[in-house]
Amino acid sequence: MDPAALETEARSAIAAAGSAVELESARVRYLGRNAELPRALRQVRDRETGQALNALRARLERAFGERRAELEGAELELKLTADVVDVTLPGRPAPRGRLHLITQIRREIEDIFLGLGYQVVDGREVETAYYNFTALNMPSWHPARSPLASLYLDSETLLRTETSPSQIRVMEATGPPVYMVSLGRVYRRDTPDATHVPIFHQVEGLAVDRGVTLADLKGTLLHLMRALFGEERQVRFRTHYFPFTEPSIEPDVSCFLCDGGGCSVCKHSGWIEMGGAGMVDPELYGFVGYDPEEVSGFAFGLGLERIAMLRHGLPDLRELWENDLRLLRQF
Ligand code: DAH
Repeated sequence: MDPAALETEARSAIAAAGSAVELESARVRYLGRNAELPRALRQVRDRETGQALNALRARLERAFGERRAELEGAELELKLTADVVDVTLPGRPAPRGRLHLITQIRREIEDIFLGLGYQVVDGREVETAYYNFTALNMPSWHPARSPLASLYLDSETLLRTETSPSQIRVMEATGPPVYMVSLGRVYRRDTPDATHVPIFHQVEGLAVDRGVTLADLKGTLLHLMRALFGEERQVRFRTHYFPFTEPSIEPDVSCFLCDGGGCSVCKHSGWIEMGGAGMVDPELYGFVGYDPEEVSGFAFGLGLERIAMLRHGLPDLRELWENDLRLLRQF
């Protein structure tokens, strides 16, 4: 073995290595266990040759080390340049979802009543005829009980036709006072048209306490209508009939489009019908064990689709459930 020739050869291999991997294979070739130099070192017998070869090995190891540092530095530099982030590039927009209009209105109403100290209660979409009709004082011959009007699962079970059964469930579960709203889906066997869909949403309200009067109902509905339709709104009552309220009324809100002057939305009356309400019929207290001598209360039920339709001028309710984003994105 010619140490000088080996050193020249190894040094040019070191210089020629273009990457850490190439350099490592060169190192194995010249300094690895079975390379010429280490083998010679293992066989060396005289001191002088041993010192010379050891010195050569030390020089080569240093040269490899220096070159490795150089290559790794260059590779890191390259990586940093390649990975550099251009913070001035425009970002990729992440499309943002939104809540369905009916969900927005639902939450809005929940917030209004939470602000008045009411509880928000979940009802059941699958109800028994007892809670949906009987305990709401609806006689056995009431037309809504017919399978032609309502969607029955069996003779005693149906998809609720209104949110009112939640009144009974809440009163049954807790004593007075009760201040609650319950919002959700209801089902009726209706043929869809521009103003009817067979699945729609209602908000039910119930307040039972000592000394609750019709004036409290009016004030509460006035507050709700002003929150939904603007501070200028007025509320008026027309007498009506519901089996579960006595007296029963239908609240109207002054038209928010023409301000009472008369337009097509209010059918030139200046007033818009807003659902049903009344004082809880004392009959109901018998079903839930409340004492009608002690407490009185009011209840109301409004349709959320109707609120959406009026407030946003929707020409056709069916469009709300067609999932056409061009429509839904507008709200
Ligand atoms: N449940 C009635 C309906 O679906 C609406 C209603 C009227 C609810 C009067 C009430 C009420 O709580 O007091 O037509």
